[in-house]
Amino acid sequence: MHNERKITNDLYWVGVNDRRIALFENVYPVPGGISYNSYLLIDDKTVLFDTVDRCMSHQFFDNLEFILGERKLDYVVVNHMEPDHSANLSDLLLRYPEVKIIGNAKTFVFIKQFFNNDMESHFITVNDGDTLSTGKHNLKFIFAPMVHWPEVMVTFDETDGILFSADGFGGFGALNGNIFADEVDFDESHWENMRRYYTNIVGKYGVSVMSLLNKATSLNINYICPLHGKIWRKDIDKLVDKYKKWASYEPEEKGVTIVYGSIYGNTENAAEILAGILAEKGIRNIQMFDVSVTHPSYLVSSCFRYSNIVIASNTYNAGMFINMDAFMHDLAAHSLKNRYVSIIESGSWAPMSGKKIREILESMKDMKIIGDTVTITSAPKNKDYEKLEKLASDIMNSL
Ligand SMILES: Cc1cc2nc3c(=O)[nH]c(=O)nc-3n(C[C@H](O)[C@H](O)[C@H](O)COP(=O)(O)O)c2cc1C
Ligand SMILES: [Fe+2]
Ligand SMILES: [Fe+2]
Repeated sequence: MHNERKITNDLYWVGVNDRRIALFENVYPVPGGISYNSYLLIDDKTVLFDTVDRCMSHQFFDNLEFILGERKLDYVVVNHMEPDHSANLSDLLLRYPEVKIIGNAKTFVFIKQFFNNDMESHFITVNDGDTLSTGKHNLKFIFAPMVHWPEVMVTFDETDGILFSADGFGGFGALNGNIFADEVDFDESHWENMRRYYTNIVGKYGVSVMSLLNKATSLNINYICPLHGKIWRKDIDKLVDKYKKWASYEPEEKGVTIVYGSIYGNTENAAEILAGILAEKGIRNIQMFDVSVTHPSYLVSSCFRYSNIVIASNTYNAGMFINMDAFMHDLAAHSLKNRYVSIIESGSWAPMSGKKIREILESMKDMKIIGDTVTITSAPKNKDYEKLEKLASDIMNSL
């Protein structure tokens, strides 16, 4: 049975929600599920904007079939060729043999790589800035390379001011009936779904996202329709402001993310002591994570959010604690820049973790080390408390 929703008089959400999925991209925990959004425009011509992941094909085709009714599908625009949005292309062609596929030259390279059947006769290749009239609506194709993948483009419906933004402006979390951001109390849990999605999925490509944002400023946007998460038709400025911060690697607010790696709990103890001193000094935005317990995607998200980071790790076979090592590489791979970072290391015979942490930080851009590395031998003692107090003061001064 179909379960689409109406966005405007001519546009429908025909997407699906997946609440069974444990790991998005087989990496990121999505306890609230995820949506694969697909949109259908009914004009003189009918246009589908992207499809959905393979896991939910059946529901998607029910939605599509119902809205189309007796009409045929004229076009499918492939804004993003990643399989979570395009896996159903081949089935779509079987059901709608006359459909034309709109994409760019790179889109079609990927289509040929992913599918065995020959779709070439369906291709309509567009260039950056090309337009297509579907009757009442005028669609403009705007390239957004590396806003996740190199072939990514966004489509702007100039008639109604609707931006089909591909993975841009997306978020984790299934849509629970309410597909619009303004239909729910868009509290911090919703922003965290968007932040963790953005920072982990697109965070590395801030420069590309900025260039898309610059292109978008000249558009009169009434709606943003991403491929995952809520649709925006209010507070678009607020959303764009968040994106400008994330894309330019500016912290959203002053605060401290503390990530610790500890076997027996001693480095953890040092991190707790530091957090307590920071709190006594008046800092309220502190998030603490055990690197072995919380998935790194939450840690990456928190590091993007706040101005300061503290990394505390024991020494493990002359390096960082194994999970900290993975996390630090993950953080560097996301190209985070421009943060204040402080280091706590520990070890029983030859503490080395601080040096290793510093090496990774030095490979990243504009990461400023705040305070002296605090070295704990086996377990924190009174003398270490003073060092931690000094570190807390240095962190306060940097805020
Ligand atoms: C597998 C393993 C490897 C370790 N390698 C080192 C090392 O190379 N150098 C060192 O000084 N301590 C090493 N240690 C000791 C811990 O780093 C040290 O006891 C630390 O203070 C423990 O802190 P924690 O209680 O936070 O885990 C190792 C411990 C384990 C279990
Ligand atoms: Fe993607
Ligand atoms: Fe996606």
